[in-house]
Amino acid sequence: MNLLILGGTRFLGRHVVEQALTRGHHVTLMHRGRGAPQLFPEAEHLIADRDGDLTVLDHREWDAVVDTSAYVPRQVRAVEAKLAGRVGHYHLVSSISAYADFENGGSQEAAALQVLADPSTEAITGDTYGALKALCEQAAQAAFGERCLISRPGLIVGPFDPTGRFTWWVQRLARKDGIGDVLAPGSPDSPVQFIDVRDIAAWTLLQAERGTAGVFNLNGPTDPLSMGEFLQAGRAALRPSANLLWVDESFLAAQSVAAWSDLPVWLPSSSFAMHRTPTAKAQATGLTCRPLMETLLDTHAWCQAAQEPLRLGVGLTAEREASLLAAWRERL
Ligand SMILES: NC(=O)c1ccc[n+]([C@@H]2O[C@H](COP(=O)([O-])OP(=O)(O)OC[C@H]3O[C@@H](n4cnc5c(N)ncnc54)[C@H](OP(=O)(O)O)[C@@H]3O)[C@@H](O)[C@H]2O)c1
Repeated sequence: MNLLILGGTRFLGRHVVEQALTRGHHVTLMHRGRGAPQLFPEAEHLIADRDGDLTVLDHREWDAVVDTSAYVPRQVRAVEAKLAGRVGHYHLVSSISAYADFENGGSQEAAALQVLADPSTEAITGDTYGALKALCEQAAQAAFGERCLISRPGLIVGPFDPTGRFTWWVQRLARKDGIGDVLAPGSPDSPVQFIDVRDIAAWTLLQAERGTAGVFNLNGPTDPLSMGEFLQAGRAALRPSANLLWVDESFLAAQSVAAWSDLPVWLPSSSFAMHRTPTAKAQATGLTCRPLMETLLDTHAWCQAAQEPLRLGVGLTAEREASLLAAWRERL
């Protein structure tokens, strides 16, 4: 297969390229050459900014396009203007953030999407990201019709994750210095979802090879997972001597601890529905999720090999966590 990745040098796109080359496909990447241009010398690299001149796409044809780098609909339309009629399959990577509401089946693939108050805005913020992805989806469907696949991943995790969210837990659990207690947020029974980037990459290539169209949530694991199971698995994999100290979400809220950012991956009970996105449709088309232990160990191995730093603003600092745990113990 002749495959074009719009992106391909950071995280999800990087894994798609790696697996595509392993599967013997001919791969072209288009990117600006800023991230890691030295990657994949065996592939063709088109250097272009998708916000600017796209003549590198002129007169070219691909069996399939995987678009990991569209954040505003103009970027999708600009690609369409160059490639319409000359690609067999176009896969836009969107997000579950596109959903308007997660309650009462709100994240079934046919559910309503967010709507921007000002559809002309291109400012990508926490408030506009999902609605802009929804507009990208509409632009992609209008442009590529029945050749269009839209994927809506939940939290993507694993090696080369630039966001540091799941990675923070791996680094925290593996930390040998300091106290043995690890602050475990909320209730061990609370739901949690995330998907290994390599499982999305494998599914992406399978669908490109088949020319699948339609809209698919992508999340993991296959069977429901709780925060308790997630953190116990992390503890077993990375530091069995650690003790998980479960701290009530009301206490955390009173201490102004923010879910998702101060304690990444975790969501409080008011947002549990976000960690219950249905994935039966993707599973029916071949999505499989590797064991959690593999994701934990491989993410840890990557962190160590890359000397991956903690990301600013992601996760509690050691000092803040220690002071929260001290306050929680005093209260007991
Ligand atoms: N992380 C999550 O948990 C999560 C969850 C749901 C959905 N998603 C979606 O998944 C996708 C993840 O993408 P990724 O970053 O992992 O993909 P990637 O393809 O590995 O990396 C992004 C690529 O886009 C290129 N790029 C960025 N801006 C560009 C521009 N203006 N023109 C041309 N190339 C450009 C970058 O290279 P240069 O910088 O060199 O140009 C890089 O190669 C995103 O669409 C995101 O919204 C992520």
